[in-house]
Amino acid sequence: MTLRAVVRGVGHYLPDRVVPNAEFEARIETSDEWIRSRTGIERRHFVAEGQTTADIAARAARAALADAGMGVADIDALIVATSTPDFTFPSAATMVQAELGMEQGFAFDVQAVCAGFIFALTNADGLIRSGQAKRVLVIGAETFSRLMDWEDRTTSVLFGDGAGALVLEAVEGKRGILAGDLHSDGRYRDLLYVDGGTSTGKTGVLRMQGKEVFRHAVEKLAATAHAALDKAGLTAEDVDWIVPHQANLRIISATAQRMGVPMDKVVVTVQDHGNTSAASIPLALSVGKQRGQIKEGDVVVTEAIGGGLAWGSVVIRW
Ligand code: UT7
Repeated sequence: MTLRAVVRGVGHYLPDRVVPNAEFEARIETSDEWIRSRTGIERRHFVAEGQTTADIAARAARAALADAGMGVADIDALIVATSTPDFTFPSAATMVQAELGMEQGFAFDVQAVCAGFIFALTNADGLIRSGQAKRVLVIGAETFSRLMDWEDRTTSVLFGDGAGALVLEAVEGKRGILAGDLHSDGRYRDLLYVDGGTSTGKTGVLRMQGKEVFRHAVEKLAATAHAALDKAGLTAEDVDWIVPHQANLRIISATAQRMGVPMDKVVVTVQDHGNTSAASIPLALSVGKQRGQIKEGDVVVTEAIGGGLAWGSVVIRW
């Protein structure tokens, strides 16, 4: 028997404020029609003033713990995937740890932008397989509304805020994380970045060469998903669900097509959430489970690409 990181619970949190595409029409030269047809996005959620990344991460964590039937005392490690921590340090993860009242174990952030949840899951899998932790809370949480240049129509309409979380537990058997495949290539750092940080003294705003990122996404996502499936000893025919990073419906469908998986096996939430970066995959996993799409025993392939560029895929037997 093999020790694996099995998904025991999943949950999410979306801020109350829903922003439909129409709200942008009044501010910048864009249209609901353009946003829908080019991206698939219809609305997104934005945090309220004063609502932090740690707050929404903690809410998603509580939902995942409730789904797992566990309490915070059962968790030995907490990882937050985020590019929008509330402070440079301490980590968002230690802030969530305190907010949850978790006094044991350890917590840290993973920063791989939109691929952050894939990198965090792979880290959690390593902690579990090496015996460092038995139960790990893995959270993706973002407040990208705080990184937008509201005058830039090529980026401001794309992103949203939200958080999702999984509880993983070390269990012997066939379920759990089967394989992962990670990549990054810093030569492409100028394609998608925030023009601020400690070197500038300002938080900065997101800048993206969308067309170029699109091209890399279509080329790299199917390849990494195939590589992860290969490592798991599976093929695209074994896939029950693709749960992709939700950036653009055209990227999602092009990737599914390249993988030879029909769209009725793809969990799509981009219309309701926009691009929530590292939160998008756990949000989609949670919504997919709520909709009755993802069931125990299903082979689920997650894949994502984002700033860095960083990209990868994780295969889970749910
Ligand atoms: O999550 C991290 C990874 N990020 C991504 O995966 C995003 C990848 N990129 C994309 O999703 C797409 O490239 C975008 C949605 C960002 C853009 O779609 P596109 O089909 O690549 O459009 P484009 O950049 O080629 O722009 C086409 C036209 C341009 O006008 P001209 O130059 O043809 O006159 C843009 O200025 O659309 C214009 N445009 C807009 N028009 C109305 C760009 N943004 C808007 C807008 N509303 N919001």
